[in-house]
Amino acid sequence: MSKHTPEQLLALFRPAVRAQKPYLVPGARPVSVKLNQNESPFDLPPALKRELLEAFFQIDFNRYPSEHPVRITQAIESQCGVEAGSVLVGNGSNELTYTLGMCFVGQGDAVITPTPMFSLYESMVRLHGGTPIRVECTPTYQVDTDAIIDAVEHHQPPLTILTTPSNPTGLAIPKKDIERIVRAAEGFVVIDEAYNEFNPEGSALDLQMKYPNVIILRTLSKAFGLAGLRLGYLVARPEIIAEMMKSRLPFMVDRLAEQVGLLLLRHEDLVRDRVEQIKVYTEALHRELSAMDGVEVLPTNTNFILFRTGQEAADLLDKLADNDVLVRNMGGYEQLQGFLRVTSGTPSENKAFLDALTSALG
Ligand SMILES: Cc1ncc(COP(=O)(O)O)c(C=O)c1O
Repeated sequence: MSKHTPEQLLALFRPAVRAQKPYLVPGARPVSVKLNQNESPFDLPPALKRELLEAFFQIDFNRYPSEHPVRITQAIESQCGVEAGSVLVGNGSNELTYTLGMCFVGQGDAVITPTPMFSLYESMVRLHGGTPIRVECTPTYQVDTDAIIDAVEHHQPPLTILTTPSNPTGLAIPKKDIERIVRAAEGFVVIDEAYNEFNPEGSALDLQMKYPNVIILRTLSKAFGLAGLRLGYLVARPEIIAEMMKSRLPFMVDRLAEQVGLLLLRHEDLVRDRVEQIKVYTEALHRELSAMDGVEVLPTNTNFILFRTGQEAADLLDKLADNDVLVRNMGGYEQLQGFLRVTSGTPSENKAFLDALTSALG
């Protein structure tokens, strides 16, 4: 007989862990039209998959990958036009979010998190013992730059986090506002550019030349369509990356992910064409959604759209799912009560969504 009860064992967890909820995608269920996670609707073309198959046979699965994979790191550095040593790759950008916590968030540290914000950030801050300082958005869901600067000046945090274009709102932060925040901050400003390829404002990467406290976070999960592989990266000045390496688990990017990432980086034209297509599909979806009676639609700078109707979001989500279409309920964010989020899919997926919505609104 063990002398431990489950309660005794659970009490051994750090309180910061016990207070958290696990990250789960709410409402997930198997459907044909999956528009709930801002993924690309495009898988790799069969010709590229065949090319990969060749590479697959060259991989020594019994050997560790390199601690910090050189080839993909260099390919990303060259694509970003940054000097050697400026990139850190990870197992999706989510994993690098935790590296940021390890490096910069200690017990009791304030971290500025404009809200609503991608929920993983607050959870990362709390898990490391820090306190997220929420800065409310404006009534039109834009980031409130003046309020963020006030909070930065007041708290002098080690870290301020911006996501642009933002998940969940879909709105981009004007570049001049980002620069004002970066200039005001003594600490680091992380700019999560997961949806960078869709951003009409363009990337904030060039600010790094002027402001070494800028850290850019990106992913191959969205525009590159590699959510299933887990590949993300951050870009910072080489001295900063070298220091961050000390907190990294080795081997986070496996040989397979590196091969696929390298292949896609060689096919920049394919990614660019697909981004253009997704933008066209998103604009069409936005137009059609906005033309529907009783549907309020937010503007978007991404591959997804927030909308709300007179119906309860949870009920509407269920009705759409009954029609084989999955979207996301934004009700977990205080400011976004009643809103649902739909990822722009292929034209036929978007049509299936619009048909399901029309029928649900009856
Ligand atoms: C703002 C933002 N950052 C990061 C991620 C996650 O990226 P990854 O798949 O690289 O972990 C997402 C995914 O939805 C996101 O919306």
